[in-house]
Amino acid sequence: ISIYSDGADLSKMKESYASGLVDGFTTNPSLMKAGGVTDYLSFAKDVLTAFPKVPISFEVFGDDAETMKKEALILKDLGDQVFVKIPIIDTKGNSMAPLIKELSELEIKLNVTAITTTEQVRNAVDAFKVGTTNIVSIFVGRLNDVGMDTDAFVKESRAICDSKPGSLLLWASTREVYNIVQADRLGCDIITVPPQIISKLKNLGKSAEEISLDTVKAFQKDISELDFS
Ligand code: E4P
Repeated sequence: ISIYSDGADLSKMKESYASGLVDGFTTNPSLMKAGGVTDYLSFAKDVLTAFPKVPISFEVFGDDAETMKKEALILKDLGDQVFVKIPIIDTKGNSMAPLIKELSELEIKLNVTAITTTEQVRNAVDAFKVGTTNIVSIFVGRLNDVGMDTDAFVKESRAICDSKPGSLLLWASTREVYNIVQADRLGCDIITVPPQIISKLKNLGKSAEEISLDTVKAFQKDISELDFS
């Protein structure tokens, strides 16, 4: 599985990349807001200059097909490594599949985002031009956040992506390190991971015994600052 870094803070992106574990980046409007981005295109250019060969997904901001198309054409011109993120629906719930088809016909690399159902996966994959490479971002963590069991959804999404080679399945909304194990087992091509979770990957391979020991040591450290009586 490939690990992407999910965020829009350039210094954290650089830190994640320095771990040697990251093969690409994803951003979205909320992550840009959280990262303090105010000028989209100058941020995008800085990112592309910092990582000239790495796949990077930038999302359109529009909420209608016409604006999304205009923005998609600007974003794809920023560089060959850019995947243009198009939400599978607009805020009224209208399918963006016709726009995805139109952009894919132009051979713009797409990352279809905000996907939570197999029907949406099918709509995205069906809209891709044969022979092109695109990403299908399934928001698994957001489903888990509301208590849903998502294994079947991920497996079915894998099967749908297999029906059109070049459709890369990406696990989005990563909540913990264990999601990387799950995404890998369930056949995802990519998982995008927030920098604070990437920084935990240095602990991979710790034994259960070490974790127990670390736990009691941490308790003792905190106890030394407390009064028992
Ligand atoms: C990445 O491409 C997605 O936009 C991101 O993983 C969504 O994460 P969230 O659901 O935690 O906002």
